[in-house]
Amino acid sequence: MARKYSKRDEYINSLFAHEDELLQDITSTQIDSEFNMQISPYEGKIIYLLLKMIGAKNVIEIGMLAGYSATWIAHALPHDGKLYSFERTMHAVEKYKRKIAGSAIAQRIEFIVGDAREKLAEFNTPVDAVFIDADKASYSQYFQEAKRLLKPGGLVIADNVFLFGHTYEEPSRQAKNVAIQSIKAFNQLVAQDPAFESVILPTSEGLLIARKI
Ligand SMILES: C[S@@+](CC[C@H](N)C(=O)[O-])C[C@H]1O[C@@H](n2cnc3c(N)ncnc32)[C@H](O)[C@@H]1O
Repeated sequence: MARKYSKRDEYINSLFAHEDELLQDITSTQIDSEFNMQISPYEGKIIYLLLKMIGAKNVIEIGMLAGYSATWIAHALPHDGKLYSFERTMHAVEKYKRKIAGSAIAQRIEFIVGDAREKLAEFNTPVDAVFIDADKASYSQYFQEAKRLLKPGGLVIADNVFLFGHTYEEPSRQAKNVAIQSIKAFNQLVAQDPAFESVILPTSEGLLIARKI
């Protein structure tokens, strides 16, 4: 399903979020996929800028898909920086690895293939930021792992925290939907955590930003 952007989003994308060849290539392979779940160009640019602003060197991404957000993140890192990208789908990782082979960002990305809920629990490298964009039911677990791994001043960035508007609209038939309840619980958990200063940027899907104090 081709992803449609609002006029407002198209305006921001066209002015501020130019895609290089690699990003265009990834988008073109995703555009007709019913599994097109990648962030928008300007969300990529927001993440890129946030990482640059804090001088991020080591970053975790949970949920890589076709490598669109990974590419934005890797571009924001210094030459000796590292993106640890957690993804459970091996063929997606292999495909992206082939696309970036020989490029400067290839050396900056380490892929951790498998279930991120298990792999993260074994991970112990301190990081400057964690981008959460995988299974919605596990966002709170990912937040707890991020809290453990983040350096002071580090960021949690999480996509889809509006979940198509369901987190703030409260339709009763969705009261038992696991993803909606999980994201609502996640938003509340972050909002109430005194170890973080947080907000949601009102992008079309909601991008949560939390800074560890
Ligand atoms: C929304 S897509 C990620 C999009 C990507 N961040 C981007 O913007 O380009 C979610 C991805 O998370 C992966 N995923 C879901 N649950 C996972 C888990 N428990 N462990 C690792 N990866 C997972 C899926 O395979 C999928 O590729």
